Amino acid sequence: MTSQLIIFDTTLRDGEQSPGAAMTKEEKIRVARQLERLGVDVIEAGFAAASPGDFEAISSIAEIIKESTVCSLARANEKDVRRAGEAIKAARRGRVHTFIATSKIHMEHKLRMTEDQVVEAAVKAVKIAREYTSDVEFSAEDAMRSEVPFLVRIFTAVIEAGATTINVPDTVGYATPELIRERFAELIRLTPGADKVIWSCHCHNDLGLAVANSLAAVQGGARQVECTINGLGERAGNAALEEVVMATRVRKDLFDVSTRIRSDEIVPSSRLVSTITGYVVQPNKAIVGANAFAHESGIHQDGILKHRETYESMRAEDVGWKTNTLTLGKLSGRAAFRARLDELGIGVQNDDELNALFARFKDLADRKSEIFDEDLHALVSGHHGKEVNERYELAELEVTSKTGQTPRAHMVLRVEGQERPVSASGSGPVDATFKAIEEVARSGAVLELYQVNAVTKGTDSQGEVVVRLNHQGRIVTGQGADTDIVIASAKAYLDALNWLATAGKANPQTDEVM
Ligand code: KIV
Ligand code: ZN
Repeated sequence: MTSQLIIFDTTLRDGEQSPGAAMTKEEKIRVARQLERLGVDVIEAGFAAASPGDFEAISSIAEIIKESTVCSLARANEKDVRRAGEAIKAARRGRVHTFIATSKIHMEHKLRMTEDQVVEAAVKAVKIAREYTSDVEFSAEDAMRSEVPFLVRIFTAVIEAGATTINVPDTVGYATPELIRERFAELIRLTPGADKVIWSCHCHNDLGLAVANSLAAVQGGARQVECTINGLGERAGNAALEEVVMATRVRKDLFDVSTRIRSDEIVPSSRLVSTITGYVVQPNKAIVGANAFAHESGIHQDGILKHRETYESMRAEDVGWKTNTLTLGKLSGRAAFRARLDELGIGVQNDDELNALFARFKDLADRKSEIFDEDLHALVSGHHGKEVNERYELAELEVTSKTGQTPRAHMVLRVEGQERPVSASGSGPVDATFKAIEEVARSGAVLELYQVNAVTKGTDSQGEVVVRLNHQGRIVTGQGADTDIVIASAKAYLDALNWLATAGKANPQTDEVM
């Protein structure tokens, strides 16, 4: 009989642990709304103990989201678990997800705890979590490098204590498909009470096997897959939700499971996460890459035209690829603008914010006759509201660039409200612009990434720029969009500097928190 495969999305938690992928509360809410629309069963909204901001974001998501379970991560200590329990209190369906490491290397070097102490902490954490909700997940961090008898011992104990989902993470992306399939089957066979809980996998992609391992875990008995949109996540990322879901759907003959995912919301979800985090999707990425359904060679095109299934195992429209739909134009009014923002899950807090966004929209519509949904997402990217420090702002920019001459940028920066004129030259207009900004900011940060993408087709498209800066090991991502890519670049650089001027977030797996 076909069983349900629970899709647990951790874009807002594990995904956010990617360097420079930090999101503000409003951005997290937008993503959560889209995940709900996508049909995700469980949304891991964050790590409540990381900061008051994270706590607030999870609480707000718990209030807003009705269809999906809202979950908070917590290390296996009383303070973290109570924080997580409080954060999900308002949820129609709330889950606390508590974890502790179980591999010898983690217990000895990171936790400095004995096996007995680890089991005791896990049981205590699960019992406290049960005071808040009947839906409690326990994860054995680094499970795929842990010893099976110890896993059986700790899983037996936490099931007795009230855990309802048991997660077996491949934290460092070490497993292979055969190994993980057997590991799940073995754990389910050996653990008393295994039939009372849902078994879950959580695979990292360090060897490029996260999706293959997740699918193998399903064959071994897992009925929850933890994954992220676009495979976002620590280091090489997590299993990509879109790939796991479509693999189980296209190869139903191999996986006797079904999900609640509305596959035509996959591409919009991918785009939203990419726009908000600045993690651009590679063109040849399965399902959501720009080339995923493009057929270059003559033989393929001929086959596709004669009979589509010769070269396609699924249809582009099934996963949400559509030709850009015209959304708004120069004559659209505030009401139409607001309605479309609402439909896209772009929440507007108050009239001031709506006025500011509408002014930006009108300015864009003056320069670009047709405005698509992608333009509206780009319009709000790089504008984070009060959560991100607004130390730097671009007041004016003029760039001179002529064949045979050194490009120069003249700009006026607003630094905490004070106007600062500055000029610099560089090897190109963007280089000159960044140098001028640094004349004033002197941030000491290293530019790790500079990327430009066209938001839509055509030369009047907005350019969306991503700038990643590294300041003494802290990585931040800035974004800016404009029909003028030098202005977009300046905005993105200033956005990154503003993130640097904002307090960072803790990582639940590697940092000492509070
Ligand atoms: O990778 C991991 O082990 C995790 C746990 C916290 C579930 O993210
Ligand atoms: Zn993880």
